[in-house]
Amino acid sequence: MLPALFSPLTIGPYHLKHRVVMAPLTRMRAARETLAPRPLNVEYYAQRATPGGLIIAEASPVLPTGTGSPNVPGIYSAAQIAGWKQVVDAVHAKGGFIFLQLWHVGRVSHSSFQPGGALPVAPSAIAIGDDLKAMTAEGKGAAYETPRALETDEIPALVAAYGQAARNAMEAGFDGVEVHGANGYLIEQFLQTRSNQRTDRYGGSIENRCRFLLEVTEAVIAACGADKVGVRLSPYGIANGSGEPEPMPLHTHAIEALNTLGIAYLHLIEPRSSGAGRADVNWQNVPSAIALFRPIWKGVLIGAGGFTGEPAEAAVAGGQADAIAFGRYFISNPDLPARLQHGWPLTPYNRPTFYGGEEKGYTDYPAYDATVNA
Ligand SMILES: Cc1cc2nc3c(=O)[nH]c(=O)nc-3n(C[C@H](O)[C@H](O)[C@H](O)COP(=O)(O)O)c2cc1C
Repeated sequence: MLPALFSPLTIGPYHLKHRVVMAPLTRMRAARETLAPRPLNVEYYAQRATPGGLIIAEASPVLPTGTGSPNVPGIYSAAQIAGWKQVVDAVHAKGGFIFLQLWHVGRVSHSSFQPGGALPVAPSAIAIGDDLKAMTAEGKGAAYETPRALETDEIPALVAAYGQAARNAMEAGFDGVEVHGANGYLIEQFLQTRSNQRTDRYGGSIENRCRFLLEVTEAVIAACGADKVGVRLSPYGIANGSGEPEPMPLHTHAIEALNTLGIAYLHLIEPRSSGAGRADVNWQNVPSAIALFRPIWKGVLIGAGGFTGEPAEAAVAGGQADAIAFGRYFISNPDLPARLQHGWPLTPYNRPTFYGGEEKGYTDYPAYDATVNA
């Protein structure tokens, strides 16, 4: 059943046995003090690992200042590397592969996360609109502040932080890293005119707005090799105050430039699911990102956003994507690949337990028991 989805795929040096990928999912359940993964997180990832399956682990800040929600695991300290190593070892023990998503939230932060209560940094001093709320370090809602625009000479250190984070991920044993260029965070803030009004070489033209993404990707490639690097983008997305008036020329340029870097994969989020972390949206009449950009992207393409088994099979069989990443259904179905393959029913997800807490809504979703349900 679903023969295309359950056929092998090579990504970089890795031979996947199926194409059901676990999407990166922020769950806000790392150790409070160290922001390191803890045994509960190890159990969660181990539950979702399958032989020859790929997990993209949750977005992990590359710097403390790149954080915008409490209890998300970082990848900048020795304790975090050690915590992640436990996760990686558990996934490898089940024969799975695991990449780590590298994150800097930019203006989607709050001064309570910043040393000395400083303002978050961003390409330009433009706040996210009043219709959305920031989260404080205490997990409370607050108005978004106007960020401080980065000086040009601060940018190389930020780029280098992504490179160091990639080295840290390799030290933890990850099979690769994914650059988070989606969902309105720092890299996408550089890409889009609504958050980038810079007049230096990082702003203005499309080439200049793509520069930060490409420099970060190159720094990460230098750290772990191009065949261990993926990039995630969300053309037509609107998450976290993002939204480019004309996404096609911008993303065409970005993707053509990425084509030259020889990375392991490109990961595109469908517009219909751009805000999936906050609300169920399923917009109609918006373009499909994988359909639009498949002709431009020359490498392995992962699609994500609003997929279930049959549409995922159709996308892969039709050549629109090489693999499909699942988010919400991987939360509530630890054995999602088996359920899709056998046509078993999916457990619905429980949105109130997405972010923060302990095992409830995290490690307590059962695997399907075919003997009981036969
Ligand atoms: C609870 C939750 C947390 C998420 N965290 C991340 C994240 O850390 N990084 C990211 O790129 N996308 C994140 N997303 C988006 C998902 O990776 C995915 O693109 C989205 O849920 C749409 O896929 P789905 O329809 O299969 O859920 C998150 C989504 C949810 C629901």
